[in-house]
Amino acid sequence: MGSLGRSSHSTKPNESMRLIVTTFFGVVLGFVIGASFPALSVKLNLASSYFSTPDDGLESFSDLSLKKPFVPLCSNGTQETKLNDTSKIWVPSNPRGAERLPPGIVESESDYFLRRLWGKPSEDLIKKPKYLVTFTVGYAQKNNIDAAVKKFSDNFSILLFHYDGRTTEWDEFEWSKRAIHVSVPKQTKWWYAKRFLHPDIVAPYEYIFIWDEDLGVEHFNAEEYIRLVKKHGLEISQPGLEPNKGLTWQMTKRRGDREVHKETEEKPGWCKDPQLPPCAAFIEIMAPVFSREAWRCVWYMIQNDLIHGWGLDFALRKCVEPAHEKIGVVDSQWIIHQSLPSLGSQGESENGKKPWEGVRERCKKEWTMFQTRLSDAEKAYFQSVGIDPPKLSR
Ligand SMILES: *[C@@H]1O[C@H](CO)[C@@H](O)[C@H](O)[C@H]1NC(C)=O
Ligand SMILES: *[C@@H]1O[C@H](CO)[C@@H](O)[C@H](O)[C@H]1NC(C)=O
Ligand SMILES: *[C@@H]1O[C@H](CO)[C@@H](O)[C@H](O)[C@H]1NC(C)=O
Repeated sequence: MGSLGRSSHSTKPNESMRLIVTTFFGVVLGFVIGASFPALSVKLNLASSYFSTPDDGLESFSDLSLKKPFVPLCSNGTQETKLNDTSKIWVPSNPRGAERLPPGIVESESDYFLRRLWGKPSEDLIKKPKYLVTFTVGYAQKNNIDAAVKKFSDNFSILLFHYDGRTTEWDEFEWSKRAIHVSVPKQTKWWYAKRFLHPDIVAPYEYIFIWDEDLGVEHFNAEEYIRLVKKHGLEISQPGLEPNKGLTWQMTKRRGDREVHKETEEKPGWCKDPQLPPCAAFIEIMAPVFSREAWRCVWYMIQNDLIHGWGLDFALRKCVEPAHEKIGVVDSQWIIHQSLPSLGSQGESENGKKPWEGVRERCKKEWTMFQTRLSDAEKAYFQSVGIDPPKLSR
């Protein structure tokens, strides 16, 4: 029997693919079609004039400043080598694989801005959202997500990752039409994050919220949250959690008497170093908020196969310096962790265990695997540069 992720892959790969294609790339395709019509008509004009009067055709090429690159193509081998390094483009500072392109055409970053199919591209966007919020959702949580999304102004792009395959139903909400929907059955938040939140794709966004679906947001305002995060220099943060019986760590517990906190006291013996997790430089993975720069590092640390993200919270500090000052909890904009059943109940019964037990077991296993990989990688690095590893981090 395979794992949760694998079994859903092997049963319906076509369905998964179709869903990705229709929802995610549909948006991109729309833009491509819209943008290529003008280009297409230019090409057609060129082609017709070229066939009737070749000279005019070449004139058109030079008009478009394309004459130079075309010369080697039209010439034979000897001429080509003569022209080799001056007429061929090779720009080592371009992104890897794009060295043959003139830098002026290289678009190395993208975004989740929605465009229309007509009009001038430069006039498509009335407003460019500055922040991105993602929720990993099932339709059963629609009311909770509706309430949460309403806490985010139009300064936010909204991206929903659907783990239950239900997307069209969300159109009952007005905001759903301006949201991006990515639907892949039975995957986790960190699986989606690794695949759809590449730092080059989300580069325009100053802050990125990667949130679970079971958060109560009555006491949360996103704009105010951003203001506080900036004020206190938090690169990685989360809102304080309303104390409830499900609380695991002291660090993420909301304090009633301040705007933010960056350190805490834990049970005796839990923190070897007061500046290290779980006493500082630490937040949990249910409602993290990353600055653009921090996310550019964290994304690289997410493992493709460790989809539950357990252990990531203890390692986030590798991405910011000094971590105990740049990681913290915002107390005055706080949330309630409702611990509603969600993806956990989407597992599969195996060896007589309940679905959620199998998921929980894998979470723990992944945590160990992640810790091992990280400490092995650190050891390997320090060995490779001939230095004794400094006291190894956990
Ligand atoms: C390339 O062009 C030159 C001069 O036009 C000619 O002498 C030569 O044979 C050509 N070489 C090939 C490989 O066609
Ligand atoms: C063409 O490039 C090769 C390899 O970079 C180089 O050895 C050769 O000298 C170049 N030829 C000319 C004409 O620049
Ligand atoms: C969006 O951001 C701008 C600039 O920071 C701010 O002035 C505006 O109030 C924000 N919009 C909302 C709805 O908060």
